[in-house]
Amino acid sequence: MQLWNKGFEPDRLIEEFTVGNDRELDLRLAPYDVQGSLAHIKMLESIGMLTKEELTKLTEGLQEIAKVIDDGEFVIEEGVEDVHSQVEFMLTRRLGDIGKKIHAGRSRNDQVLVDLKLMFRHQIQLIAGTVFETFRKWQELSDKYSDVLMPGYTHLQIAMPSSMGLWFGAYAETLVDDMQMLLAAYHIANQNPLGSAAGYGSSFPLDRTMTTRLLEFPTMHYNVVAAQISRGKTERSLAMAIASLASTLGHFAMDVCLWMCGNFGFISFPDEFTTGSSIMPHKKNPDVFEILRGKCNRLQALPDEVGYLVGNLPLGYNRDLQLLKDILFPAMDTIRECFDMCTFMLGHIQVNNHIIEDSRYDYLFTVEDVNRLAAEGMPFRDAYRKIGMQVQDGTYVPTRSVHHTHEGSIGNLCNDEILRKMLVVLSEMGVKE
Ligand code: ARG
Repeated sequence: MQLWNKGFEPDRLIEEFTVGNDRELDLRLAPYDVQGSLAHIKMLESIGMLTKEELTKLTEGLQEIAKVIDDGEFVIEEGVEDVHSQVEFMLTRRLGDIGKKIHAGRSRNDQVLVDLKLMFRHQIQLIAGTVFETFRKWQELSDKYSDVLMPGYTHLQIAMPSSMGLWFGAYAETLVDDMQMLLAAYHIANQNPLGSAAGYGSSFPLDRTMTTRLLEFPTMHYNVVAAQISRGKTERSLAMAIASLASTLGHFAMDVCLWMCGNFGFISFPDEFTTGSSIMPHKKNPDVFEILRGKCNRLQALPDEVGYLVGNLPLGYNRDLQLLKDILFPAMDTIRECFDMCTFMLGHIQVNNHIIEDSRYDYLFTVEDVNRLAAEGMPFRDAYRKIGMQVQDGTYVPTRSVHHTHEGSIGNLCNDEILRKMLVVLSEMGVKE
């Protein structure tokens, strides 16, 4: 039975096709649906649409449903379309006609919007917390291995000295930029759409300021049409933030696969963290990082998926929007799973402390030696030529001394400054370290 039932049953096939995965996906929205409904009825009472007793009964009814959800026993029954319908049916079953009063001044269109906004706000905080763990690990490794030199590459050719400190620390700082995107998504999600109803407001004198306060939104989408448009926009910003995070992690995963390769041998993992081959007995494969890379690459398609889905929709609610849940919900889990796995693996990473001693990396030091001569007074171009000639005629002997002092260089990583940038973003997102 549908909320909109007007005396005929829709064809079963039509119902199943249009409901799709909602009965399962909407379970995630259930606690937020109750939270939104609690704010809505308080507001309805304040404008005289419910009596005090009705408010008390409805509040108790909703709290009981909240307990069912908490206990993990909430289900969306066969024949019920979505979480919004299920909550209303449960209330009506328990309270009779009073239950039917709850929907005055709202529509499932703003109901699903408010549920999503509340859920995204919370999920973004969870993602931020998970990402911060990886950030911390990268910073810890950067400090620990700050003195371990490794080759830096340009054009994938041996270029200049780099270090493990720079490598780990670079990914930590890059996460700060990704988190700025996540912060933007947080601000976009953190606005009250309730009261926009079907997308064009209501003739009831709704007190939207009150529901904004009750739901702890710092502001609302004032224009009701803008509130409706925010379905899709909110998801797009979150998709972009997730894709950005994924691009950083995917990039790191690629580095790990390469650095683990026998031709490089910069890092390794204990045997039990690698996988084997069914035919080549010697193999220790980096499957974890390959799967991470693959998952992160897929996540980078998210903004496109959202864009294609909502790109050319007419103004106002369209049922296509329902499919956004299919795109975003699993992605929110996958990005956290990937960061969790990366943090776990980083706890076991083994670093080769002697990379740079290999003579194939001798030419890494040419710039150091040119700079040393220039610092001693030789014009830079002459110094460049002198070392260049030595390389050319095979007489170059690297001094192997590296002395970088400026901000963000091998000898001055500025990890504390980077941490401070991250903490500012986290606190704006309401995430405690
Ligand atoms: N399941 C729907 C969604 O996610 C809920 C809103 C339904 N609204 C409607 N007018 N059919 O979009």
